[in-house]
Amino acid sequence: MIPQMEPWFGDEETRAVTEYLEAGGWITEFRKTREFEEAIAEYTGARYCIVTNNGTISLTLAAMAGGVTAGDDVLVPNYTMIATPNSVQMFGANPVFVDVDPQTLCMRLDLAKQAMTDRTTALMFVTPNGRYPREGIEAWREFASNHNLALIEDSAQSLGSHYPGGVHIGCAGDVGSFSFSAPKVISTGQGGAIVTNNDDIAERVRRLKDFGRASGGNDIHDSIGFNFKFTDVQAAIGLEQMRKLPWRVERKKRILERYQSNLAGTPEVTFFEQDLVNTTPWFIDIMTERRDALVTFLKEKGIGTRTMYPPINAQNAYSRPGSYPVSEEVGRRGLWLPSASQLTDDQIDTVCAAIAEFYGA
Ligand SMILES: Cc1ncc(COP(=O)(O)O)c(C=O)c1O
Repeated sequence: MIPQMEPWFGDEETRAVTEYLEAGGWITEFRKTREFEEAIAEYTGARYCIVTNNGTISLTLAAMAGGVTAGDDVLVPNYTMIATPNSVQMFGANPVFVDVDPQTLCMRLDLAKQAMTDRTTALMFVTPNGRYPREGIEAWREFASNHNLALIEDSAQSLGSHYPGGVHIGCAGDVGSFSFSAPKVISTGQGGAIVTNNDDIAERVRRLKDFGRASGGNDIHDSIGFNFKFTDVQAAIGLEQMRKLPWRVERKKRILERYQSNLAGTPEVTFFEQDLVNTTPWFIDIMTERRDALVTFLKEKGIGTRTMYPPINAQNAYSRPGSYPVSEEVGRRGLWLPSASQLTDDQIDTVCAAIAEFYGA
């Protein structure tokens, strides 16, 4: 079986967890977590990094700390993982869906402008598979600043990806968010991180995730907060995963190149644009003909795939009318191929040969 995705932990993670436990830590977040946050801040160039228990809650906290409140409208792309809109729905804000660019799959600026209401206070910008917007992130910053909107980057799929010019994705707006769930380029099983250069946002996020405490170890609460803390066991794993990140970033790029070259003669498969100088493909995403039959054919050959996200407005969770041609087409024809960093060249060739066989090439 060649899975569509699987996390990758080795002896280094086993050793790190064992050493941590043998040293008698409290498991809950403490020194290891601070080290993990520092490693992410250093890698991304952010002034602050605060980790949370997952990448959905980190978006919720980013939005709350960015000033979004119940009843506000938040612009989100109609092609994304459902966590993006749900993260603001969680505290009573209203996600407003905007269609995406057919190549970058990022929210479209012209459509976002049309979707603005007098209740819009933020936009949650997703960078799918590490891709950045065609208009340039500067144009989005200008739009956000002209309308006094918080610019929140949902960069869950973008660790290892940069905007042209070198700013790490997640660090161009007011606040950015990453996920370390099992399928991500590095994982702590579950986990999320908030990055920001803004002192007030960092302070608010720290309080929100720790019962509203101004500092640890006391029971004085100046503001309302909750418990979205991490654990030092996860941080011990995360630190080892961070050391492996540069290799994985390079490998992911080479994996995409091999797929592209192997499938160049199969016109039924098309790739989305991907800037391999600045960005890292998290998953291998393609548009296909006869997708569902292809999925079944590959499954019978022991090859795992995953259909790309359906349009959010059409999910039962939202059931909102509207026309979103690009996200609808991706929902019908988009497919993720095996994409794990540990995938071998031979396995990529096996997958491509099976796809060519399906299309009779
Ligand atoms: C774009 C996007 N946002 C948010 C999330 C949610 O992250 P988590 O699973 O860590 O809650 C994901 C997870 O896949 C994602 O892809």
